Amino acid sequence: MDTPTLLYYVLYCFIFFLLSGQQLVQGRRSAHHHHHHHRKHHHHISANFHRPPKLFVFGDSYADTGNRNSQSNSWNYPYGITFPGKPAGRFSDGRVLTDYVAEFMGVKSPFPYRRRHLVVKNLKNGMNFAYGGTGVFDTLFSGPNMTTQIDFFQQLLRDHVFTANDIGSSVALVTVAGNDYTTYKSKTNGSSQGLPSYITTVIKQVMINLKRIRGLGVKKVAVTTLEPVGCLPAITAVSSFQRCNETENLFVRSHNLLLHQAVAKLNNETKGSDFAVLDLYASFMSILKNKAGRNLDCAGSIKFENPMKPCCTGISREYSCGDEDKDGAKKYTVCGNPNSTFFWDNVHPSQVGWRAVSSALHPTLEQLIY
Ligand SMILES: *[C@@H]1O[C@H](CO)[C@@H](O)[C@H](O)[C@H]1NC(C)=O
Ligand SMILES: *[C@@H]1O[C@H](CO)[C@@H](O)[C@H](O)[C@H]1NC(C)=O
Ligand SMILES: *[C@@H]1O[C@H](CO)[C@@H](O)[C@H](O)[C@H]1NC(C)=O
Ligand SMILES: *[C@@H]1O[C@H](CO)[C@@H](O)[C@H](O)[C@H]1NC(C)=O
Ligand SMILES: *[C@@H]1O[C@H](CO)[C@@H](O)[C@H](O)[C@H]1NC(C)=O
Repeated sequence: MDTPTLLYYVLYCFIFFLLSGQQLVQGRRSAHHHHHHHRKHHHHISANFHRPPKLFVFGDSYADTGNRNSQSNSWNYPYGITFPGKPAGRFSDGRVLTDYVAEFMGVKSPFPYRRRHLVVKNLKNGMNFAYGGTGVFDTLFSGPNMTTQIDFFQQLLRDHVFTANDIGSSVALVTVAGNDYTTYKSKTNGSSQGLPSYITTVIKQVMINLKRIRGLGVKKVAVTTLEPVGCLPAITAVSSFQRCNETENLFVRSHNLLLHQAVAKLNNETKGSDFAVLDLYASFMSILKNKAGRNLDCAGSIKFENPMKPCCTGISREYSCGDEDKDGAKKYTVCGNPNSTFFWDNVHPSQVGWRAVSSALHPTLEQLIY
């Protein structure tokens, strides 16, 4: 870069961070403004959105905000050190996808299902059923699979905790981040022979779940693609976080292609646009590809010196972020500032990581919701 370009770049990025910092503080308010603005514009289309929207969340650790019990590392230091300032069950140093989708919709992040008895008055924002480690099928980790998560939701509808009227303007966020595949891999000793047919099975189950959520009355349903699994620190550690595993990403792309096709077909069949795909693969990639200083995408470039390197990792292969031995000695290392890395731990983005990813998803969310 020549000097004027560099100057412009620095200035641009400075403004970018000023704005994004402010956005975080004023997020809810500005999201509300945004929301009202759009309601006016699309008055005739989405009359339902006159009611305050609710967010219902199903899935895994990419969306969980505290459903997994305290045996999980998400309740150990240093999880939660950026937000809320102590471990609180999120698989990040701070906010996760759910929080940013809620912010975009202008609602507070919905409460975890586990805490439903404590927070009756806060039901107005919806509810989060996502549970770290789970999948559409049962996985290596215990916890309610997505079918069971939807059963919980259905039971709350039967019990009139939420009414049909309540959910008439609601949105569902569904994350599928790969625990089904991790489980499959471990059960088949890493063989990829049966993988194509397993992918088809997973997609079928995802579609059953999406239709069921819509069938229960949720107005709009957004489902994530798989992130580039081959670029997760857990996989790239062998190359010192330098190279994504293309074999892994190839299977991810085939899952994602089938998902895109199935959702398009569903929208076509229902002659609507009630379902949308949130492309985590593309949004992760746009950030991971931007090594420092390559272009003006500040979220992806200036901050993440090596975007593949996580902030918090186990001291050796058998340990993970947050692990302690029986004497309470730390078995992990944590970087100086989680705001400087895209990944928080071996599989999960940091808060700034999620913020950058969510920004990239705004156009899709905007189309779906308004
Ligand atoms: C989900 O879990 C329930 C309860 O353990 C089980 O009966 C059901 O078969 C599971 N569903 C799927 C699709 O794996
Ligand atoms: C996986 O490999 C282990 C040892 O390498 C073997 O004992 C086990 O039977 C294998 N399992 C399958 C499902 O092939
Ligand atoms: C990439 O992933 C595949 C499938 O899991 C694995 O067999 C292979 O060894 C990996 N490659 C590298 C370089 O780690
Ligand atoms: C949508 O459905 C109609 C029939 O209802 C079909 O003719 C058309 O090809 C479909 N479009 C796509 C993109 O699948
Ligand atoms: C990281 O960013 C958040 C949000 O902007 C801020 O509240 C926090 O203080 C920052 N943490 C550090 C260690 O700089």
